Amino acid sequence: MSISRRTFLHLPGVAAAVSAASIPHPPQAHPHRAGPIAIASGNGIRGVEQAYRMMTEEEADPLDAAIAGVKIQELDPTDQSVGLGGLPDERGVVTLDASLMHGPTRRAGAVAALEDIATPSLVAKAVMDYTDHVILVGKGARDFAIRMGFKPQNLLTEQSRKDWLAWKTSLNADDNWLEWPEAAAKHTDGTIHMSAVTAGGDIASVTTTSGLAWKIPGRIGDSPIVGAGQYCDNTVGSAGATGRGEAAIQSCGSFLAVEFMRQGYAPEDACLEVLRRVVAMTEDRLLDEQGRPRFGLSFYAVHKDGRYGAATMYEGPDFAIASADGVRHEPMAFLFSNE
Ligand code: GLY
Repeated sequence: MSISRRTFLHLPGVAAAVSAASIPHPPQAHPHRAGPIAIASGNGIRGVEQAYRMMTEEEADPLDAAIAGVKIQELDPTDQSVGLGGLPDERGVVTLDASLMHGPTRRAGAVAALEDIATPSLVAKAVMDYTDHVILVGKGARDFAIRMGFKPQNLLTEQSRKDWLAWKTSLNADDNWLEWPEAAAKHTDGTIHMSAVTAGGDIASVTTTSGLAWKIPGRIGDSPIVGAGQYCDNTVGSAGATGRGEAAIQSCGSFLAVEFMRQGYAPEDACLEVLRRVVAMTEDRLLDEQGRPRFGLSFYAVHKDGRYGAATMYEGPDFAIASADGVRHEPMAFLFSNE
């Protein structure tokens, strides 16, 4: 029997093998060592150190280690992108989002639009541990957290209240709010993502945020969406996102990065490929004259075998990494230079 090329390519398993074989495998920019390893957005430098220490000295579960790492930022009132002191929504109310996945058990948990609880990552873990659900939102999430023993508190710090007021008063010269000439309105869609791999190759991921500053009440970003703000598969690796959440949601970005690694892409290339997909999917109104997105977005990825990488839309940011080579920031690959 003769088999045409077209028929051959449609035989089960052949197309996948051919397309995987055609994917380039450029040399790794980053060292290739198995875990323990923890990778995070740049604000996670203390967190990756903590997670790495727990995995090496205490043989901690990767999710417990990653949560302990991001919790440092959640409880830090000076990080205005996460937890306590996060920048609020347009009413001046701080609402928090988080999600996580535990590779060994293939479980997930998340909370969205959570008020008054500083550690949404731990509430997401409680959703995973104690319920048959994946996401709780708003009042239901807050009530659940209190039933689980979390203590409600005011998350709006004096600094974040002043920043909100500066934004609010600068909105409209004709409204009834007097402007503060000296106040510069901040804007952030910052977040912390962390992925962790143990020496045995078990993986976990967590992303937690106060979301977009001055958002419309009820808006949630990518961070509480499994597959968007973070994703992990214990047979492949883990990925997470920071930046414009809408773009990470529309591209299923973290899921896609893990799927690209499954196909054979190195972690950094997987992140770059997701960013290219985001650009291709971006609406015209969000593109500049050169076809570049008018927003920032970053992805972080780690493979089960210890390879890691990160990429961002515009040159500049670093990511945080802790491994046998130490605790450090490294520059992210990027799609566009700032020139
Ligand atoms: N990436 C955080 C957010 O968009 O809410």
